[in-house]
Amino acid sequence: MNILVTGGAGFIGSNLVDKLLDLGHKVTVIDSFSPFYNVAIKRKNLERALQYDTFNLYEVDIRDHENLSEIFVLNDFEVVVHLAAKAGVRPSIRIPRPYFDVNVNGTINILEECKIHKIKKVVWASSSSVYGNNKSVPFKETDSVDYPISPYAASKKAGELVCHNYHHLYGINIFALRFFTVYGKRNRPDMGMYKFAKAIQEGKTIQLYGNGEPRRDFTYVDDILDGVIKSIEKVNGFEIINLGESHVISVNELVALFEKKMGKKAITQKFDMQPGDVLETYADISKAKRILGYNPSTPIEAGIEKMLEWFVGERIH
Ligand SMILES: NC(=O)c1ccc[n+]([C@@H]2O[C@H](COP(=O)([O-])OP(=O)(O)OC[C@H]3O[C@@H](n4cnc5c(N)ncnc54)[C@H](O)[C@@H]3O)[C@@H](O)[C@H]2O)c1
Repeated sequence: MNILVTGGAGFIGSNLVDKLLDLGHKVTVIDSFSPFYNVAIKRKNLERALQYDTFNLYEVDIRDHENLSEIFVLNDFEVVVHLAAKAGVRPSIRIPRPYFDVNVNGTINILEECKIHKIKKVVWASSSSVYGNNKSVPFKETDSVDYPISPYAASKKAGELVCHNYHHLYGINIFALRFFTVYGKRNRPDMGMYKFAKAIQEGKTIQLYGNGEPRRDFTYVDDILDGVIKSIEKVNGFEIINLGESHVISVNELVALFEKKMGKKAITQKFDMQPGDVLETYADISKAKRILGYNPSTPIEAGIEKMLEWFVGERIH
């Protein structure tokens, strides 16, 4: 298939691109190489892909709809996997506007092109953050998500509404996948997993918010890729689908796991909860199992080992 991956230079996107190329697909990436974190990391993420004749890269911002239109005219995409976004809960509180510009208006730009070019298959990255401080666990797709607690979460919820809108009006088949805290090879450096590994390696202090008690459903990136690829194959109608591991641990337990795997004690300092942070995420994945045949297979201990292999061996600083 001829597949467009937006945000393909990032953590999840670049892992997906490598996998799609290996499966024999033609892959095009649109990515602005945003400076949210070290751009050299994003360049390195695409080094492997750039060796394929079946790979094409456009360094374009999805807010720039004129350049975007040209790309869609030049390419005959069959599927769009739309991952480009401003990520991160805490920074979205400081600077909310670009989160809505990119995550909502940028998504509209992509869907407009899908409408014009009659592309009927779209897979889009939503987020577990839309559940806010949902009280009933595990989180089901039918739970109310009307109470997001950060601009990032609100922008993802708005994106889901926009996706439904384009499905309803133009018959575009869209799966909106709610990813639950993804980690692994090429991990984003602003995320807890990366920060913990780095702090332990360098003997620096780890800041634990909410006294390290918040609980997360951490999902290994390969399991997320499996869910995305199954969605590409099966996307039909409009569905919102949780992609998590459906296994929850506290941040304190996570740090203890890193200590065990790295053979080194962590230095920690505890703080109150940060605004925008949620107490728990926990995915009910029965819908993903039913619709996609999704079956995550990387328990947290094995996932951390794999992540650390990359962290110690290949990551750039
Ligand atoms: N990592 C997670 O735990 C997680 C959890 C839930 C949802 N998500 C979503 O999954 C997607 C991928 O996340 P990630 O962790 O790989 O993040 P990432 O920041 O590594 O990747 C996002 C990519 O989008 C690009 N981008 C940002 N703004 C752009 C713009 N205006 N135009 C074009 N490209 C732009 C960035 O340069 C980056 O390469 C995002 O939509 C994110 O919101 C991630």
